Amino acid sequence: MSATTIIELAYLVAAGLFVMSLHWMGDPKSARRGAFAGMTAMLIAVVATIAKPEVSHHSDFVRHAWVFVPILLAIWPGIWLSLVPLTAVPQRTALSHAFGGLAAGLVGTAKYFYWAGGDGGELTPFIMTAIVVEVVLGFLTLTGSLIAAAKLQEVKWIPQRPWVYRGQNIVNVLAFGLAVVLGVCLIVQPTAAWSPWAFAALIFLALNFGWMLVMPIGGADMPTVIAILNAYAGLAAVAMGFVLDNKLLIVAGALDGSSGLILSIIMCKAMNRSFANVLFGAFGQVQTKAVGGEQKSYKAETPEGAAQILEQATSVVIVPGYGLAVAQAQHRVRELYDQLKKRGIKVRFAIHPVAGRMPGHMNVLLAEAEIPYDDLVEMEEINGDMPQCDVCLVLGANDVVNPAARSDRSSPIFGMPIIDADRARTVFAVKRSKNPGFAGIDNELYFLDKTWMLFGDAKAVVGELVKQLAGSPGH
Ligand code: TAP
Repeated sequence: MSATTIIELAYLVAAGLFVMSLHWMGDPKSARRGAFAGMTAMLIAVVATIAKPEVSHHSDFVRHAWVFVPILLAIWPGIWLSLVPLTAVPQRTALSHAFGGLAAGLVGTAKYFYWAGGDGGELTPFIMTAIVVEVVLGFLTLTGSLIAAAKLQEVKWIPQRPWVYRGQNIVNVLAFGLAVVLGVCLIVQPTAAWSPWAFAALIFLALNFGWMLVMPIGGADMPTVIAILNAYAGLAAVAMGFVLDNKLLIVAGALDGSSGLILSIIMCKAMNRSFANVLFGAFGQVQTKAVGGEQKSYKAETPEGAAQILEQATSVVIVPGYGLAVAQAQHRVRELYDQLKKRGIKVRFAIHPVAGRMPGHMNVLLAEAEIPYDDLVEMEEINGDMPQCDVCLVLGANDVVNPAARSDRSSPIFGMPIIDADRARTVFAVKRSKNPGFAGIDNELYFLDKTWMLFGDAKAVVGELVKQLAGSPGH
């Protein structure tokens, strides 16, 4: 078997592993296997590419050996990025997309100038189209993802509010039109004297598109924007695959691009928003006005009182949210689950598709504490049971249990499907303060007669509930 055949086979195995990786990651039980399959596929892809005759041939290999320097250097920021807490994964993902976009943009630029410097024969209309798409998507993903990461990290010099100005749409359309004209000119005339200047102008426009696209979008929509940028980065990789004539890159890029698109559609659906609404709406503007104007008051309860009521329940539904992740209270929640189960109480977790800051956030968190997966119930399924639920314990969740989404047409989250916590017989809500959640709005649930607030850090409050239950005679 020739070296080329072995490499093609290795690419085939890697492509198969990428597909299986996505498939396995669709289920928490096989997700770990999925992650390993993805990593193995990437390793095979890199080794097979280095082993290609045009790279590894003796004289060429010496010429290409320097490539190991950036690989070795890049390992360290990679390890550092992998160690960020779960709550920072969206901005970490945005940074990964920024690097992916930068790589695609640089490869396209290098290939263009390399081929244009020769006789330009390689720059066929097809290859030139691929280069233009790769460079535009790559560089806009770079700057767009950097702005998205900064917004998610809440850095001070980037406003969280949508950043808009008069005539913005006209400027955007004109810039886009100019980019199309430049792209078409380059495809038709890739090696004219003016072409390198047109190429540089295209890069400049693409870099500006990134921030022009993301700055008008509010912080609350950033996780969805990240998924859309994921799709752009994937498409840039597909175009790069055509430029480099690398089939594996085309397959991996297509998987990446389509999964980003599917993810953004799932997120939009879970928030009852359209794509256009996310990209051009002004959701995420912080509202300072209190609901209804009049000052409403909360009723606070102590962990002792709450533990007594929990003990008498037959059915308890726990709604985890972003605050649970912030408090890292998952292990305390497991202890609470064990205490309640010991008493024969039916305990289930209501999982909202956008609870937390990324899809699957709550599932990952609860799996970490080895909470049985069968007790995690999707929103649609649990909502039918909520009127029979004795106690609903809301742990650091806010927007995803806000009844305004069902009834208040003026609310920015109106129409978003929610977990019907307000339909339970009694509600305990754990949060630290009276501050609103991600969408920046008040929550009617907290003011209902049946609702009692347990103010404090989720880890401390749940720990206290466990202590009360463990020490009670009912135990
Ligand atoms: P949020 O609405 O953000 O509410 C989280 C609550 O947790 C806050 O009210 C906060 O109140 C409380 N909290 C924070 N730290 C805490 C701690 N240490 N201990 C106890 N409580 C704490 O979260 P959610 O209900 O999970 O909703 C998710 C939001 O993110 C939705 O608006 C959703 O649309 C948005 N979003 C999510 C996604 C994905 S994919 N997950 C994507 C796009 C948008 P205090 O500050 O008073 O403690």
